[in-house]
Amino acid sequence: MSQVGTTEVIDGVGILTIDYPPVNALSVHTRRALDEGFRQFAADDDVKAIVLICAGRTFIAGADISEFGKDMGGPSLQDVFEIIENGGKPVVAAIHGTALGGGYELALICHYRIAVPSAKVGLPEVALGLLPGAGGTQRLPRIVGIPAALDLITGGAPTGAQKALALGMIDALAEEGNLREGAIAFAADLIQKGGPLTRVRDRQDKVEPYRGKPEIYSEYLAKHARAFRGFKAPFNIVKAIEAAAELPFEQGIVRERELFQELVTSTESAAQRYYFFAERQGAKVPDFAKDVQPLAIAKVGVIGAGTMGTGIAMACLDAGLSVTMVERDEAALDRGAATIADTYKKQVERGRLKPDVAEQRLGKLDTALFLDAVKETDLIIEAVFEDMDIKEGLFAELDLIAKPEAIIASNSSFLDLNEIAAATSRPSGVVGLHFFSPANVMRLLEIVRGSATSDTTLATALSFAKKIAKVPVVSGVGPGFIANRVMAPRSQQALQLALQGPEPEQIDQAMFNFGFAMGPFAMADLVGLDVIGRGSNERTLQSDLIKIGRLGQKKGGGFYDYDASRTATPSPVASQVIADFAAAKGVSTKIELTADEIVERLLYPVVNECAKILDEGIAARASDIDVACILGYGWPVYTGGPMFWADTVGLGKVVEGLEAMGIEPAKLLKEKAANGESFTRG
Ligand code: 3HC
Repeated sequence: MSQVGTTEVIDGVGILTIDYPPVNALSVHTRRALDEGFRQFAADDDVKAIVLICAGRTFIAGADISEFGKDMGGPSLQDVFEIIENGGKPVVAAIHGTALGGGYELALICHYRIAVPSAKVGLPEVALGLLPGAGGTQRLPRIVGIPAALDLITGGAPTGAQKALALGMIDALAEEGNLREGAIAFAADLIQKGGPLTRVRDRQDKVEPYRGKPEIYSEYLAKHARAFRGFKAPFNIVKAIEAAAELPFEQGIVRERELFQELVTSTESAAQRYYFFAERQGAKVPDFAKDVQPLAIAKVGVIGAGTMGTGIAMACLDAGLSVTMVERDEAALDRGAATIADTYKKQVERGRLKPDVAEQRLGKLDTALFLDAVKETDLIIEAVFEDMDIKEGLFAELDLIAKPEAIIASNSSFLDLNEIAAATSRPSGVVGLHFFSPANVMRLLEIVRGSATSDTTLATALSFAKKIAKVPVVSGVGPGFIANRVMAPRSQQALQLALQGPEPEQIDQAMFNFGFAMGPFAMADLVGLDVIGRGSNERTLQSDLIKIGRLGQKKGGGFYDYDASRTATPSPVASQVIADFAAAKGVSTKIELTADEIVERLLYPVVNECAKILDEGIAARASDIDVACILGYGWPVYTGGPMFWADTVGLGKVVEGLEAMGIEPAKLLKEKAANGESFTRG
């Protein structure tokens, strides 16, 4: 027997334990161990029932994602499933941690499922641009019915054990910490009772009522059109679930396979699988001393009670940390505290938060008017006005107040962290924590590593990010860090292009079709032209609009006109302002572009900037930039981010496109294109 699987027999119950860290993924090794274990039990007359259980932190978390697209080898999942389902002995899946994807599909092959209350089960393949390809789309509807299966599989979120029990996704709960004993007792009971084996595939009762009702699926797709836009997987999932209702099991499985095959070979799924690993890569800093231990963070000080300060405070409170929020102005402090209380109140009203949890969180918030209040905190995050003199003064003060081992962080989105750190006597304990607004919602956290930031400080920042459920991306010090810097050319190009003929709505539409939630002009109107243009005295298109009171949505007009419900329509007034500005700047060439050409004009320069920051070492890897753009700017995940997308387009084509626009391609981009290399594919 391979080391991944171990077997033992207790009173007629064969126990197969799978141990393949970290998450017992269904790799070739795991499949082999399952195959061997079940064959052994099938041949052993002493074994009357079987328990499948896993060692470590979790039950099987799914197929091994790193194996997709490679020659998988060994027994296939189908081979393994066949001997479990038709081996003639009842099999009980004993679940702790998470039974996900192929792991839960394996559990559905077993005749029974028992789980501890903390366990979660589900089919999250949609997040990888896939569908459950090992029978999940055919078996789950047979247990939970068509409507619930549609939600569970297109949504992909794991279901907690209690709810899973209510839905029928599991059959019984075991006592927490006593799964093995519970599962053995369950199996012993089965032996005692005897009787025929039930297979999920044979069940009809839950799908029968939905047979011959194609409108269920068209209505479902119409209802979720916005969420599914641009993705391929949800559409194939819906087709596969329809097959579960309409076709006999064997044919349904064939249909599932075809639809899975279509997805697994698609660029969208390749991008989403790449993104799965990219997100986890960000916390691994390449040039990091091994075994650096992060410092413990229990109490956080937040300086500033504006939009960023309150958002950061909530992100910390949500994670169970104690927060002291400091603001010099009493009215502003009260407003900040009220915003926090109000946000939790709304979450309770919408049923997203339990009242006692909201209470607990608010109980961990202290407010103060003096910096002294943060002297006991482990981490202090500054979120005050973006002005170097103010920040330097504040850091010098905090340096005197904070505990010697406390870390002081700046949330600045563009100021030089090294200069800020130099205002303290502890530059090694200073780091940038660049949150994106709203800070309690957005998952991206850019961690800015100053030239003096110590490995311990960086390790602490990374573990803090995990604690508050953010995805960290480490950035070097440079203007705009990663996301803001690489995405800036998109807006600059849009503004330039608007002077040459294409209307804002045409440019925005091209970006929307590419997969962004909105284009740069709609975004500018939403944020406010005055906010975007803050600090600049230059004459710009925005400043011309501001001059006539067109500040954006809040004033009923910006690049678009807005009605009372803030619905946008193209604006003749803005068009005239654009034409006048173009004339003043001497731009007379008028061009017409297709949507694809607009995408190239706006996004090739983004790729160029990405290549520059990679070359400068501001970002350590291409995937970090992709994560920052996807999470920070809503770059569509099914294109993989700007670097993965550029590889899909072809770097040679990007270089040519940039040259045609009169933009010098970055050195690294040119080199890679010339050598036939890519940014993201090894
Ligand atoms: N395949 C390969 N590696 C995996 C994996 C998988 N299915 N799931 C997790 N890992 C790896 C991660 O990359 C990470 O590796 P690292 O330590 O080298 O970075 C390690 O396992 C731990 O993962 P996390 O950092 O994510 O650990 P958490 O404890 O935060 O989360 C988890 C655990 C909930 C299991 C989470 O990893 C997860 O959601 N995994 C993916 C589950 C999934 O999508 N399963 C479906 C796969 S597709 C499939 O089954 C197709 C089938 O229908 C045929």
